Amino acid sequence: MKQWQRAGWIGFLVVMAALFLVGSAAGQETWVIGTSADYPPFESVDEDGEFVGFDMDLIREIGARLDREVEIQDMDFGALIAALERGRIDAVIASMSPTPERRERVDFTDAYYQSRQGILVHPDTDVEINSLEDFMQYEFAVQTGTTMDDWATNRVEEGLIEDGQIRRYGDVTVAAMDLRNRRVEAFMLDLAVAYSLAADLGLDVAVEVQIEEAGNPGILLPKGSDEELEKINAVLAELREEGFIDELIDTWLRGVYE
Ligand code: ARG
Repeated sequence: MKQWQRAGWIGFLVVMAALFLVGSAAGQETWVIGTSADYPPFESVDEDGEFVGFDMDLIREIGARLDREVEIQDMDFGALIAALERGRIDAVIASMSPTPERRERVDFTDAYYQSRQGILVHPDTDVEINSLEDFMQYEFAVQTGTTMDDWATNRVEEGLIEDGQIRRYGDVTVAAMDLRNRRVEAFMLDLAVAYSLAADLGLDVAVEVQIEEAGNPGILLPKGSDEELEKINAVLAELREEGFIDELIDTWLRGVYE
């Protein structure tokens, strides 16, 4: 074989291999997942700009098992359900638990985790919080549209707190920085996140609590996704049985929580 012939052959093979790779990638359907990446260790953005955390590993594994390529779209927590309703994303994973109001708008898969809540405070403070009753005395932060926001709103309706005590934040990171800078006295959020931010930003978890407004998080799908719901619940059951979920707990929550 002459030199140019061989080069031609190699070129041909390289092109064929490239076409094959592009073809198989295109064959995999893209699965657009909405999240609010301000919630370590469940979802956050690392130094390389990658989405990381418990929920991110979980959704990528589910995607892999359904032969889908996961694409993450980051937005404010309070915008997720509307984005799902408008079909801008296919599903949501954001440490979000079902509530009666949410269930009217979206479907939830089975829960993949058991959640509790915690209250963050500044380490050098006169603020003393050992219970939810104590917490009600202060000016505190919650993330907009969360079950903690629901809790606070319900307490206003019961006349137990003033609406002016509540500081609602679209972004958890901003709320944590405001606590750090003493612009707010306390911050209620999911417990593992409270411990994670406490370690990262030098804050304290004053107390662990459980609010009745919160439940265990699942994955959100558009309303009426019966078939898809069944598919994902089957994968979740598989992952639970295989110990994959326990491994995620080990990887992301060991040392942080429990
Ligand atoms: N678990 C709470 C809820 O369901 C808060 C979730 C906030 N998640 C987030 N990624 N910022 O409302």
